[in-house]
Amino acid sequence: MRLLVCGGAGFIGSNFIRLMLARYPDYKIINLDLLTYAGNLANLKDVEQRANYKFLRGDINDSKLVESLVKDVDIIINFAAETHVDRSIMDSSAFLRTNVIGTQTLLEAAKKYNRRYHQVSTDEVFGSLGPNDPPFNETTPYDPRSPYSASKAASDHLVRAYFHTYNLPITITNCSNNYGPYQFPEKLHGLFITNLLEGKQVPVYGDGLQRRDWLYVEDHCEAIDLVIHQGKVGETYCVGGEGDRTNMEITNKFLELLGLGEAMVAHVKDRPGHDRRYAINSDKIRRELGWAPRTSFEEGMKKTVEWYKANVDWWKKIKSGEYLKYYEEQYIMR
Ligand code: NAD
Ligand code: TYD
Repeated sequence: MRLLVCGGAGFIGSNFIRLMLARYPDYKIINLDLLTYAGNLANLKDVEQRANYKFLRGDINDSKLVESLVKDVDIIINFAAETHVDRSIMDSSAFLRTNVIGTQTLLEAAKKYNRRYHQVSTDEVFGSLGPNDPPFNETTPYDPRSPYSASKAASDHLVRAYFHTYNLPITITNCSNNYGPYQFPEKLHGLFITNLLEGKQVPVYGDGLQRRDWLYVEDHCEAIDLVIHQGKVGETYCVGGEGDRTNMEITNKFLELLGLGEAMVAHVKDRPGHDRRYAINSDKIRRELGWAPRTSFEEGMKKTVEWYKANVDWWKKIKSGEYLKYYEEQYIMR
């Protein structure tokens, strides 16, 4: 099988490529990634020499390039996106360009050659839950509330529209928050662990009682593996992790694992429009495809902290970059 993985140099995409190469040594994988601030070839250093793996720097908005690649693959798996909610609040233009128009460009090429297409999406498209609301599932109406989630919702709608209108063989996964190795140090886990390792405080937005359903990244990649091989065309699968915790619970776990105290926590101004709670009901993918997360919250948190401790060069290089410095000054530690 020949895979075109878009956005494979980011956090989840790089973990996915590593999993595919380990599980299917005869597959051919092309990784098309623009290498924005979030893309990093160091994420795939250990596999870059594999004969069946090829990296290409390019934009999913480049229709000529995309068509030339899509023609020669069996499936397109789209991870490429602008992904950070805080950045989308500062400026959403790149989010619309990549997440919406980029997806449409991929879909057009998939339509031209009638290729299987998988869209990697998020549970944030469903909006924010109240404390007693049932978790999101595949029938929950879309109600995105940040520019990021609005752009992901738009791209999901387009993907489904291509199925209904053109019979394009698509699938979508809507997954909860991921954590694990190679997460860019601007998201909660990457930022907080590395700040603590540098002796810096961690900026908890507002009261820190917002809830997310944390899933270890490899478990998400295994779910995508199942959906691209056994998922039913035209269907959506919700993927979640039994990792429902408040941001303060996550923060306290980091402090415990690193032997640090509460003085390292700074409560800062809340994120505008901050979604209070996400939770996912993943019964469908469990029942139909036999998926279940393998990594417990305790084990995943330990593995993640250990990974950042063992890979200081990886994140130090990123954190000393101008782009992140500018962003920290403008937004995070305000
Ligand atoms: P990331 O920001 O770490 O990586 C995104 C990658 O896309 C980067 O390598 C970047 O260079 C690339 N990219 C951006 N614009 C591009 C363009 N125009 N053309 C080609 N490549 C481009 O993101 P991530 O956390 O790995 O998320 C991957 C996907 O999974 C996204 O679609 C995201 O919405 C979705 N998702 C993420 C989470 C999460 O918790 N991180 C949860 C559910 C779903
Ligand atoms: P994030 O990793 O940005 O994911 P998302 O907003 O897409 O869920 O944030 C996870 C949670 O952590 C979210 O409730 C916002 C909160 N958060 C902080 O409190 N401080 C921070 O510096 C960051 C980056 C996030």
